[in-house]
Amino acid sequence: MIESSDLRMSRIPLSHGAGRIPALGFGTLIPDPAVTITATKDALAAGFRHFDCAERYGNEREVGTALQAGLAAEKIAREEIFVTTKLWNSNHRPERVAPAFQASLDRLALSYLDLYLIHTPFAFQPGDDHDPRDQNGNVIYDRGVTLLDTWKALEALVDHGNCRAIGLSDITLNELQPLYAAARIKPAVVQVESHPYLPETELLDFCKQNGIVLLAFAPLGHGMRPGLLEDPVIASIAARVEKTPAQVLLAWAVQRGTAVLTTPKSATRAKESFDISSLPQYALDEINRIQTRQRLNPVVTTGVPGFIPKAKGAEPGS
Ligand SMILES: NC(=O)c1ccc[n+]([C@@H]2O[C@H](COP(=O)([O-])OP(=O)(O)OC[C@H]3O[C@@H](n4cnc5c(N)ncnc54)[C@H](OP(=O)(O)O)[C@@H]3O)[C@@H](O)[C@H]2O)c1
Repeated sequence: MIESSDLRMSRIPLSHGAGRIPALGFGTLIPDPAVTITATKDALAAGFRHFDCAERYGNEREVGTALQAGLAAEKIAREEIFVTTKLWNSNHRPERVAPAFQASLDRLALSYLDLYLIHTPFAFQPGDDHDPRDQNGNVIYDRGVTLLDTWKALEALVDHGNCRAIGLSDITLNELQPLYAAARIKPAVVQVESHPYLPETELLDFCKQNGIVLLAFAPLGHGMRPGLLEDPVIASIAARVEKTPAQVLLAWAVQRGTAVLTTPKSATRAKESFDISSLPQYALDEINRIQTRQRLNPVVTTGVPGFIPKAKGAEPGS
């Protein structure tokens, strides 16, 4: 259930009374450290209160710097923002989880996290190398640890009190169901790629039935063109409701009951992307009838990050 009729302010309650996640979130998958700082400050100033980070993005320190400065400048209390980060694949061994969590907290300069996610269900060879490969260039997976082993270590973080909620990312429904059944603390959030070309309807239904928030990434199709931002159905609705295609895509995501992550990199885009308002039912119906199906990021099948290269080339992380 979404709280607040103003889509920009909507927050979705998390299971176990772990607070409320702002539906509209800002993602920090930004390769450039300087842009990470300016974009994070701009997002906070535009109104974003939900920040999605990851150890793998290599910029938690810059996000922490920007949040400290931004909170002070905007006179916003830590409790008003919601911060997530993610455990990387090479830290799945249970004894590596608490140190990885603490290292993220230190880089972000925070005393607690609102949400900690297992970045992908794939365990890589444990160690400091984020991308362990054999001599043939193949990823070295770790067969000595299960997802449930790692999950139990995340449950212990919640028990210890400086992690309010835990969840999973880049997971399929088939992998989620047994983990959900076995978990002592049920996942509060599942973060996956989702947009009108990849609605993940079955997963969303399961999440809604079980009190899990589906957190959609790449809602604008990662900004790829041609792509969702130029889809004729989206463009036509945007013209009729006098909003931009990005605003239409973000409103659709929130109105269907998901939380959503987008990555505006300038102040103008941050203001635009935050300024969403409810779409009429006919618009939601038209978007739901779009037949194009496309996954942009294969991380869910391999644990290896990165969007599928288009004309301009891919980015290094996911
Ligand atoms: N769990 C995972 O494996 C995973 C994977 C991917 C992403 N994520 C998370 O999800 C976040 C969002 O993913 P995403 O970056 O793919 O989201 P997205 O919002 O679909 O795509 C972002 C791109 O869209 C463009 N854009 C942003 N605002 C716009 C606007 N108002 N109008 C037109 N274009 C706009 C920007 O392109 P320009 O660069 O041209 O400005 C931006 O780089 C990431 O930052 C990360 O936190 C998680």
